[in-house]
Amino acid sequence: MADRTSYLAANWKMHKTTEEAERFLAEFLLRVANSGPEVVICPPFTSLNVTVELCFQSPVRVAAQNMHEAEQGAFTGEVSAPMLLDLGVDGVILGHSERRQHFAETDEALARKVPAALGAGLEPILCVGENEAQRDGDRTEEVLTRQIQADLADVPDARLSEVVIAYEPIWAIGTGRTATPEQAQEAIALIRSLIDARSDTAATAIRILYGGSVKPDNAAELISQPDVDGALVGGASLDPDDFAAIVEAAG
Ligand code: PGA
Repeated sequence: MADRTSYLAANWKMHKTTEEAERFLAEFLLRVANSGPEVVICPPFTSLNVTVELCFQSPVRVAAQNMHEAEQGAFTGEVSAPMLLDLGVDGVILGHSERRQHFAETDEALARKVPAALGAGLEPILCVGENEAQRDGDRTEEVLTRQIQADLADVPDARLSEVVIAYEPIWAIGTGRTATPEQAQEAIALIRSLIDARSDTAATAIRILYGGSVKPDNAAELISQPDVDGALVGGASLDPDDFAAIVEAAG
């Protein structure tokens, strides 16, 4: 890996009440060193406040799992970047495959959301990845190219390195079927080359994570690949010991 600080994000999805978040953080924060990988917790909206408060004097940062691109408006059930900033949130996951699949999130919407997050001062964690049929049909490169080009189209080259990208093959999410380190490296190197086509400085600096069934026992090997800068962790991030072990494996 070049001079990029590793990055570990916990995607809690629709898990943990505020009390459960408090219990997790009481254990987890004791195990996070001040120097080492960057660590970001992404709780559901309802636990953002308590997570921001408890992480305040720690190196751990907090991100949401979605946002609307408008600052405000008649969008029932949505939350905007200024609202997240108001809570002290640092970033936001955008384009997770579960949102693309179950909530019809499109590349067109992401092309608006990613620059809106950056413009507001939130760090976007943009997720991309192919499904099983696309991988079996040898279409991984085509899918990743389309997603990266479309979703980042309106991000200026000078700000590309501020985006964090997570390569999450859909067939590996929540299935226990992790991509091999070689598959993760190959896809992430491709993503880096797509960034390089726009800006070589951004390609050197941008963090690209792997996500999909990352566990304490496979994290080190995945993250040691030259282009893999960290992990976006779902299931294993719900347990403070498991997520702490993954952070330690990355350090
Ligand atoms: P998983 O989820 O680690 O449970 O596979 C990863 C993700 O969806 O971000």
